[in-house]
Amino acid sequence: MKTGEGQLNEIYLDSSARILCPPELIPSPGQYLLADSPASNAPLSVPIFLSESTPDGFRSAPALPALWTPGTRLILRGPLGHGFSIPAFAHKIALLAFDDSPARLRGLIPLAFKQNAEVVLLCNSVVSDLPESVEIQPLQALAEILTWADFIAADVARENLNQFKEAMKKGGRVLPETQALIRAPMPCGALAECGVCALTVDYHWKMICKEGPVFAMGELL
Ligand code: FES
Repeated sequence: MKTGEGQLNEIYLDSSARILCPPELIPSPGQYLLADSPASNAPLSVPIFLSESTPDGFRSAPALPALWTPGTRLILRGPLGHGFSIPAFAHKIALLAFDDSPARLRGLIPLAFKQNAEVVLLCNSVVSDLPESVEIQPLQALAEILTWADFIAADVARENLNQFKEAMKKGGRVLPETQALIRAPMPCGALAECGVCALTVDYHWKMICKEGPVFAMGELL
């Protein structure tokens, strides 16, 4: 893990932000940084996810603390956790924003295109600035997409994990390879082992901040 300085450069309408930082601190899709603003007295670090790469840094997923304004200096630690890893065989990729914006999944789009994959984005929120070749479908199309995709990357809140697993069964056949980013508060990024990010799967605890936040579907059953 590296520590370095960054700066919040610009805030977009959707409350995402452009962060300037050294290239070695840019998280890959699904990984995160822990950020602190020395100017604020906030006791907890803020996890920041990549939405897309930008020159000299990256665009974060929304939303960041309201007190952070353009010019805010940030102390950044990371990249932390396990991110997504698109399998080499995947050529029909579905990005599934199960209960939030697809911001944390967008960074996968250029990686998918690099391996000539088709991309379908499933979400129920309004999205803009997507490449034209990305097809957008509502979540109601999930059962159909499950029969089409050979890889699924999902974004799910910890409290909705059971609903997500139920929805994934609706395809009625063997699931395509699936990885899911599980969202939960991650105030210490495993540095203090606070346990706030704990996830119970089959009576076992997993630390989302360290063992995730991206899990293979098999680890969640
Ligand atoms: S965030 Fe503290 S142990 Fe995971």
